[in-house]
Amino acid sequence: MEGMLKPGSFKDKTIIITGGGTGLGRSMGKYLLELGANLVITSRKKEVLDKAAAEMEQETGGKVLAVACDVRKYEEIQNVIKETETRFGKVDAVLNNAAGNFISPTERLSHRAFDIIVDIVLKGTYYTTLAAGKNWIAKKQPGIFLNIVTTYAWTGSGYVVPSACAKAGVLSLTRSLAVEWAKYNIRSNAIAPGPFPTEGAWSRLLPGDLVKKFDPAQRIPLKRVGEHQELANLAAYLLSEYSAYINGEVITIDGGEWLRNGGEFSHLEMIPNEMWDMMEKTRGK
Ligand code: HXC
Ligand code: NAP
Repeated sequence: MEGMLKPGSFKDKTIIITGGGTGLGRSMGKYLLELGANLVITSRKKEVLDKAAAEMEQETGGKVLAVACDVRKYEEIQNVIKETETRFGKVDAVLNNAAGNFISPTERLSHRAFDIIVDIVLKGTYYTTLAAGKNWIAKKQPGIFLNIVTTYAWTGSGYVVPSACAKAGVLSLTRSLAVEWAKYNIRSNAIAPGPFPTEGAWSRLLPGDLVKKFDPAQRIPLKRVGEHQELANLAAYLLSEYSAYINGEVITIDGGEWLRNGGEFSHLEMIPNEMWDMMEKTRGK
């Protein structure tokens, strides 16, 4: 649960994190600050961002710029890039982390409810990517994208269908641009986290009594949820020069959750040893 990279790994590097004032974005940002990065955090709620920025600066001694930005508005993203360059000189990496989600049977969703999730997750990510990528290409600067997806980006999942559709699009964007923009020295990778407790995710995906009924840890072979520092270590590695040869990859960090729940016979873990003993004794009889 400790930081993994060398102190100063991000000295003189500036990283923009969308949705960086709360949850996992904030935890990853805090670790990047500890490693010497300049940080820019963005989201819709300026008061949340300002409070987070002040606290993160105090906790780490680093520099944080908070800029309000709705990732569905291209001009607002362009403004984030402009403000980042004014304050820190350049952008080195972008962490596409902002998202929206809720659970619902799909037939109960209005088309606007579907839109809102796809707009935040997919449109927000490709708008941010386009704005930052065009800027790097025009200035002949290298760049790194790290996109946060989910494991159901490739399996799909009922009850979070807009999110699944949008995250699948983000995964495809990651892999496509890893190839197309490599010639500009721009890398693109993704992380697919399993359950990591945050107020934002838990309140929307396990509302009310659901949190008592469905303990996410029980679905996970390691029988625990993720620790934020574990994700922060992986994100910092993928945003650093140590991962310079990794491009177009999605790294799962879920304690084995999605494979376990796709495995035909994973449920046999419920069979106690005594029953295996009995089956062994009666085998072939
Ligand atoms: C069905 C819903 C709904 C719900 C909203 N809507 N909540 N429909 N079930 N629970 C519908 C509304 O009725 C409306 O449609 C439309 O969606 C827009 O809703 P608003 O409340 O006006 O939108 P807004 O205030 O902009 O809020 C956006 C939001 C909200 C996405 C709904 O939850 C939000 O701000 N989320 C941001 C943070 C977040 O979601 N974090 C969790 C990420 S977790 P109508 O037709 O009535 O106009 C994550 C983890 C994945 O991604 C993997 C975990 C393992
Ligand atoms: P979170 O705290 O709710 O983070 C979501 C962030 O996105 C918030 O800061 C929110 O801020 C921002 N955001 C939402 N709509 C936005 C918009 N239109 N423009 C700009 N910013 C917007 O939840 P989290 O759990 O940390 O999630 C972070 C990322 O991890 C997401 O991509 C999520 O899909 C992914 N993930 C989480 C888990 C988990 O178990 N927690 C698992 C897999 C993947 P505002 O409301 O201020 O805009």
